Amino acid sequence: MAFLFACNKCLLFLVVLLHASAAIAAAALDNSTDLASLLAFKVASTSGGGAASDNIIAANWTTDAPFCTWVGVRCSRRRPRVVSLNLDSFSLQGTISPHLSNLSFLSSVDLHNNSLSGTIPDALGRLPRLATLRLSRNLLSGPIPPSIFNNMSSLVSIDLSYNNLSVSLPALVLLPRIEYISITDNWLTGHIPADLARCSTLLGIYLGGNKLTGRVPSSLGNLSKLVNLDLGENQLTRAIPTSIGNLTKLQYLCLSFNHLKGEIPMEMGNLVNLQELHLHDNGIVGSIPISLWNASKMTVLEVSINNLTGPVPATLGKSMPFLQWLLMAENALSGGLDFIASLANCRDLNYLGVMYNQFEGVLPDAYGNLSMNLHYFHVFDNHISKKIPARLENLSNLISLDLSSNELRGTIPRTLWRLNKLQVMYLGSNRLTGSISSDIGLMTNLATISIADNEFSGQIPDSVGNISMLQKLDLSVNKLSSTIPLSLWSLTGLLRLDLHQNRFEGLLPPQMAKLKAIGYIDLRSNRLSGNILSALGGLQSITYLDLSNNSFHGQIPQQLGRLFNVEYLNLSHNFLSGVIPKSFPNLSYVYSLDLSFNMLEGEIPEGKVFSNVSIISLMGNRALCGAPQLKFPPCPANMITTSTSSTKLRLLKYVLPSVASILVFLACFSLFINFFMRKKAKASSKEEPPCLNYHRQILYFELARATDSFSEDNLLGSGSIGKVYKGSLDGGLLIAVKVLNLQVEGASRSFDAECRTLGQVRHRNLVKIISTCSNLEFKALVLEFMPNLSLDKWLYSQNQCLTLLQRINIMLDVSLGLDYLHHQHPHVIVHCDLKPSNILLDENMVAHISDFGIAKLMLIDNKSTTSTNNVGIVGYMAPEYGLTGGVTIKGDVYSFGIMLLELVTRKKPVDTMFSEKLNLRQWVSNAYPTVVMEIVDNNILRTDFTNLQQHSDGVDVLRRCLSSIIDVGLHCTKDLPN
Ligand SMILES: *[C@@H]1O[C@H](CO)[C@@H](O)[C@H](O)[C@H]1NC(C)=O
Ligand SMILES: *[C@@H]1O[C@H](CO)[C@@H](O)[C@H](O)[C@H]1NC(C)=O
Ligand SMILES: *[C@@H]1O[C@H](CO)[C@@H](O)[C@H](O)[C@H]1NC(C)=O
Repeated sequence: MAFLFACNKCLLFLVVLLHASAAIAAAALDNSTDLASLLAFKVASTSGGGAASDNIIAANWTTDAPFCTWVGVRCSRRRPRVVSLNLDSFSLQGTISPHLSNLSFLSSVDLHNNSLSGTIPDALGRLPRLATLRLSRNLLSGPIPPSIFNNMSSLVSIDLSYNNLSVSLPALVLLPRIEYISITDNWLTGHIPADLARCSTLLGIYLGGNKLTGRVPSSLGNLSKLVNLDLGENQLTRAIPTSIGNLTKLQYLCLSFNHLKGEIPMEMGNLVNLQELHLHDNGIVGSIPISLWNASKMTVLEVSINNLTGPVPATLGKSMPFLQWLLMAENALSGGLDFIASLANCRDLNYLGVMYNQFEGVLPDAYGNLSMNLHYFHVFDNHISKKIPARLENLSNLISLDLSSNELRGTIPRTLWRLNKLQVMYLGSNRLTGSISSDIGLMTNLATISIADNEFSGQIPDSVGNISMLQKLDLSVNKLSSTIPLSLWSLTGLLRLDLHQNRFEGLLPPQMAKLKAIGYIDLRSNRLSGNILSALGGLQSITYLDLSNNSFHGQIPQQLGRLFNVEYLNLSHNFLSGVIPKSFPNLSYVYSLDLSFNMLEGEIPEGKVFSNVSIISLMGNRALCGAPQLKFPPCPANMITTSTSSTKLRLLKYVLPSVASILVFLACFSLFINFFMRKKAKASSKEEPPCLNYHRQILYFELARATDSFSEDNLLGSGSIGKVYKGSLDGGLLIAVKVLNLQVEGASRSFDAECRTLGQVRHRNLVKIISTCSNLEFKALVLEFMPNLSLDKWLYSQNQCLTLLQRINIMLDVSLGLDYLHHQHPHVIVHCDLKPSNILLDENMVAHISDFGIAKLMLIDNKSTTSTNNVGIVGYMAPEYGLTGGVTIKGDVYSFGIMLLELVTRKKPVDTMFSEKLNLRQWVSNAYPTVVMEIVDNNILRTDFTNLQQHSDGVDVLRRCLSSIIDVGLHCTKDLPN
């Protein structure tokens, strides 16, 4: 026994010994493979260039230390073999090395959110233990290697979303352990393979935002464990298969933005666990199955833009108590609105949108009992009749109320004016009567009011001047009378004013010139009189001005010719006399100029506008002459002026500056490039190719969720363009949401098209536009979040201080981004609003320009192609801006120059020390080159100077360096573009 025991023991020892030495041998052999593979990976994934600071792994992955200590690398506990590689957001720019497949113990690869390009190496499919593969948010292109989909027996989760992958999904899918497949937002084509259904372990399938065609395979009904299914934003056709009803575990189903037809299958009523159902924008017909209305866990029901019919059960709120979003807009739903009362049971209800349907009946009084969380109440375009119920004041958190285009009568209940969180109020196109209560002045958050096309009478209350946030006021087509209160003209943020077709009388006061931001004024068909004031010429942002059908008299002021941005100008049907101002041919963007039916006389000026019959209307005047192309009689000889010399003058005035300014721009840029480029010679060649991918629209509720319903806590900043919120998407991705203040609705299509273009603008020094969200009321850009926020925060911070090198790097980054926008992108993008608060810094202090293209987006909204309404800020704007009206890349160069000067001096161009007589540029220019050190930011002297003191000529080096920067700044900001 003893012997046996001893022997057993020694046997055991032997075995252990054998194992250990084998392991050691294997480790010695194989850890060199791992080392070689990692080094190959490092070379490939950093081959895209970039400064060393961009690539942590370039510095960290050195053979001085064992590779198991390298950042992002994790080894097995037992042996020095790599089991996981986590390089999420490491700014990798290069390709994925196929050598990765030699890391034979690898079980997890995470390369999410880098700028890796090229194809996914086929060899990855050979990793025998790989369970997690996450390559999302890169620039990967080409096909998905078939080896991945039918070879990887241990794969549990694969995420390839947000790349540029194309070609179709492999037909054969054989992944025995797979739980999650995510390939959203790529360019996949072809059908969804029916074989997918063989992966019975699947919990989540995400294929949204591709170009998949064909039907939703009926076989998917076999995936009995499936919890999430996202096939939204593809080109899927035919009906939803009835087998979907077998997916009883399903919680999230998105089929939005496809071409699905047919009815919602009865069987979908079996999906008792459903929490979110998105069928938005398809061609689905019929009524929603009764059983589906009973899905008691539903939080988001979104079936807008289909052809659904039938009534909504009056007990809806009882059967879906957790409802947060109910969106059934643009269908043909009918019946009563009793279901709204039952929604009082849904304490989290946030958005109720049933607009554009055929609902009829009255708004139940009980709707005052709806959730306190209700922010949006949109029931416009139905057949709602009777009165607006008085019990509104309970909905005290309402942000947007739209009851327009119904058949409401009676007066506005007093309680409505107490909804002081309201930002948007539409009551237009009803039959409402009574007067506007002076309580309107209590609604200080209102940005938009429209009560157009009703039967309101009385006057506009003075208190309207208290609504200081007001941007859009539409009181048109009513019976309002008396004079327009002076206080209205103090609403300096107003962008759009429509008072047409009322009974307003009196004069337009000079105070009207205070509406500096206004882009649209329609006062036609009232009883206004007096002269048209020359002060109107100061409304530089205006693109649309209609004063027709009033009783204005006197001369048309010359100054109206200064409305460089105007596109539509109508002064017809008044009593205007005298001659047409000689300044009018300057209105170069006008597409309609109507001066007809006045008492004008004398020579018609020459110029583009006056030669085009389709633009100008002059009929019904007293005695106009000239302009034979418009068929007016020639003027008497003594009236004709020397037109040839004026043509020459015009040539000199317009052609010369533009040619010259292009030259100066080139000079300025090459100077700049000569000065700085040597250092970053490599950096410029590594710019990413413009990305072809357009990322799918994020739905409004997703953004609301990401930003905690746009809570103030998440507000990063706000400005004339809109507000920016921090948020986090479901996947944990941090984002910045820029909610745009757009004024004209119905511009979605061009907005989307423009965003599509912007979404393709990719450059290391531009803030990445991840996605967009737009609907009638709401337009937002979803941007990459920049943890170090904006340059101006750093520059003017009390605690932090930028070194000179950091400042130079930031401006280099900005110049590269700008150069891309101006010269390297297929369509020239003029920024128009370059300033330190638009320069954002990422975690490595790399600068990214933000808000590019916004100018254009705002333009779409104003149906203008050349002017800007509320972009550009005093101080950074080139002096020629506003003179020529157009925006050019030269203006951006000017702003860039101002920023250079600001960065060196830490003085804002709008600092109180500056005035019309002495601006930042002059101040710097006075000091240059002799006393440069007097004006530079003391912080630079404090930090950089101490570093330089050890050199004998340290001060001199610093002075020369600063002088060269200032020199570039001064060149970029010359007063005249030429
Ligand atoms: C690889 O194995 C050798 C020999 O066992 C060892 O000295 C070395 O530290 C190992 N390398 C790493 C990175 O673990
Ligand atoms: C690499 O990074 C890791 C983790 O941050 C760190 O522990 C290690 O010291 C770094 N090595 C080098 C050589 O920088
Ligand atoms: C769905 O379930 C029904 C009844 O339980 C069954 O007859 C049918 O075969 C199932 N369909 C699929 C595709 O699994």
